[in-house]
Amino acid sequence: MLPPVPVLADYGLSPTHGFLPDVLPLTRLPDPYYNKWEAVVANLQGLILSKRLRGVVDRLPVLSTIGLEHDAEWRRAYMLLCFMAHGYIWGGDSPSDRLPPPIAVPLLEISAHLEVPPVATYAAVCLWNFKPLFMDEDIDNLENLASLYTFTGATDESWFYLVSIAMEARGAPIIPLMLTAIAAARENDVQEVTRCLGTFAERLDDLTTLLQRMHESCDPHIFYHRIRPFLAGSKNMADAGLPDGVIYEDGSGNETYRQYAGGSNAQSSLIQFFDIVLGIQHRPTGEKPSQAQETEREGRPPAPKHNFIMEMRQYMPGPHARFLDHVQTVANIRDFVEQNKHDRPLSVAYDACLAMLRALRDKHIAIVTRYIVLPSREVRARSRSPAATRRKLNLATAASRPQPQGIAYDARGAAAEQEAAAAKKGGNLKGTGGTALIAFLKQARDETGEPAIEDWTRRFMSRQPRTAGQNDFFAGKADEGADLPVGAEEVQVPGLAGTWTIDEEVGGICNY
Ligand code: HEM
Repeated sequence: MLPPVPVLADYGLSPTHGFLPDVLPLTRLPDPYYNKWEAVVANLQGLILSKRLRGVVDRLPVLSTIGLEHDAEWRRAYMLLCFMAHGYIWGGDSPSDRLPPPIAVPLLEISAHLEVPPVATYAAVCLWNFKPLFMDEDIDNLENLASLYTFTGATDESWFYLVSIAMEARGAPIIPLMLTAIAAARENDVQEVTRCLGTFAERLDDLTTLLQRMHESCDPHIFYHRIRPFLAGSKNMADAGLPDGVIYEDGSGNETYRQYAGGSNAQSSLIQFFDIVLGIQHRPTGEKPSQAQETEREGRPPAPKHNFIMEMRQYMPGPHARFLDHVQTVANIRDFVEQNKHDRPLSVAYDACLAMLRALRDKHIAIVTRYIVLPSREVRARSRSPAATRRKLNLATAASRPQPQGIAYDARGAAAEQEAAAAKKGGNLKGTGGTALIAFLKQARDETGEPAIEDWTRRFMSRQPRTAGQNDFFAGKADEGADLPVGAEEVQVPGLAGTWTIDEEVGGICNY
């Protein structure tokens, strides 16, 4: 007996809005008992700027969750507390490694209720943090969206969230469409599966167009230096001043440090749904296809490796992650297309979906290069400049003078300090599994093309960019994969959810 095809309603998913809530996010908690939370978040930017947020939060009463009724209220409460929490942690002269009871106690309860970690996840800042400008217009249109809250007040921050929301909304109809395709494949209905795949491919192209609109209104420097630091988590954040993570003061008396990844679009269930339904497999980061086969052949148990994409499922709301697990058990499209290989329109429609998703990942790599890799290189170059070296020398000669306790950080400076620290340490820094950011993203992109059916599409999608004339004469041919050439310098760079290394030999928008 085949497992049943999932029913969207069982997982709280909407046929029109997908992973976005069916009921629009509330703009206020109805119970006046929560007015204090509302007031703090309504004034978040002013409180962060004046460095008064911590004082205000410390004086808040510990509110009970008893007044939260409908799901929409729980979601809003989570969103409010996550903005407060990250403002509290990153919005001072140095990061706070404690979240006080007025945030920690209700946030832990609400997170448990919603089955989502108590940090600013993609759900907190994107899925549950928007409103339409015109109620009678669709929310898959960037011109009809506004964020409810931002840390900075910058339109760039809103835009960063809104592009994701528009993509979620535009991509939402693909979910019921592909569940229909799964059912049709069970019925051996080639025509219906072909139709669904064709529509899917067209929508994916729309999503890439939306993704590219990031460049319109989100400035890379503002993103890198002002926005990203507020989204940082508490895992691998020693260089930013949180060596152990954060203590959530829940009043139990036996609290220990917790570590969570930061908020990232890698926590989007939509993109993972696409992968699963198309039968795309993401290997543990750094593992090549041949390696996986070799281990299988030799009957050795695979060495435990870090699979970042799978890890991100823990940061999705529980029902969304469970929906993906369910889809995994029924995904039959790849096998169906393989069995009906002789049907060209079917194979072409399937391969078109892979090609479109691969193209989306390609554009995303260019975005990450522009918004993270290049600004982080600039910071690094500055830290190596003669002026910076002189400053370091001055600091060194002044070392006998009393130094302030800790390192002076504010959210805006934290990234720069972090980069400078990483640059200083040079050679052997390891990030999340010691993985280079772009190598990780390229692996995900290349894996997207691997299940292609037609020989020519497979060849086309496994094409490597021409690198002739770009190799270092002394270092030899730069490996496109996860491993750095021996002796090449790794530099730690904070991504969004993860901390990564940057491979100096690859990168630059034009390379992709
Ligand atoms: C300025 C815009 C963006 C930047 C700087 C950015 C940056 C990153 C970074 C650094 C990662 C690596 C994982 C991490 O550290 O979190 C990542 C992964 C990812 N991002 Fe983005 N991202 C952006 C926009 C988007 C948008 C709009 C989407 C919407 C679909 C998206 C989807 C993903 C996905 C699905 C992954 C996981 C890797 C994969 O599946 O290919 N990103 N992003």
